[in-house]
Amino acid sequence: MSDGFVARSLDEIRFWSRIMKEHSLFLKLGFRCEDTQLIQEADYFFALFEGIENKAHSYSLETDPKVIERFNVKVYKAVSQIWAFKRKVLGLVLTCQLPGANNFPLLIDHISREANYFRNRLKELNTGTLDPLPDAIINENVFFLRIMADHAKFIAHLLDPSERKLVEQARSFSHDFDQLLFQARDLESMSPQSQTVPLLDQFLDQNRVSVKSLRDFKKTARELIEACRIKSIIHPLLADHVFREAERFLTIIDMFEQHLNAQTR
Ligand SMILES: [Fe+2]
Ligand SMILES: [Fe+2]
Repeated sequence: MSDGFVARSLDEIRFWSRIMKEHSLFLKLGFRCEDTQLIQEADYFFALFEGIENKAHSYSLETDPKVIERFNVKVYKAVSQIWAFKRKVLGLVLTCQLPGANNFPLLIDHISREANYFRNRLKELNTGTLDPLPDAIINENVFFLRIMADHAKFIAHLLDPSERKLVEQARSFSHDFDQLLFQARDLESMSPQSQTVPLLDQFLDQNRVSVKSLRDFKKTARELIEACRIKSIIHPLLADHVFREAERFLTIIDMFEQHLNAQTR
């Protein structure tokens, strides 16, 4: 098993199990009062991921890798389950079986993509098949840039329409990230020839600038929402949730930058 297997596994599980737990809450809040079965399912997933989160915090770097390997398999199964639940709900919404429910289809698709990402990461860790660095840089950025573009769209749509200036700002972030996503896909299509150190380095630098400014915007929005200074239907926990995901992306960009620099030295 590779170096840092325990550390990497615990880091991913601690971060993403909390995210999955919160998705369950957001889904629940978006259901109608009469959707008692769906609400119960959401509660089940909340408890399931809360348990996983607590368990992940009870392990340490000294825990036997074999124990972590089994834990990863268990978490993988739970994530597959919540992924299937999210896709089921998406199906119900898209076939108009939940009229008046309050979660956008794109949001449900979005949180299912996050589950899928988490599940793949667990599989890669357990099978020791992490992408080579240049592929990882492009794939992770394609994934996270789309996530960031979606967040900007959700914020724009969940702010009260009378918050014209903030809605405008959120829309502009949405546009910015759509463009960055297209650029990332172009780079992806030009690979492996595009996987030179200068191009990848510039790609990371450019993405970092935009992610930092979106992260700061989310931070401000979170503070304004918590202080009840703006009109919106954004749950304070959702504001914090999208802020944490931006921070995660920044950490990943910085980690790639370090690896890239280490390679050229
Ligand atoms: Fe999320
Ligand atoms: Fe997200």
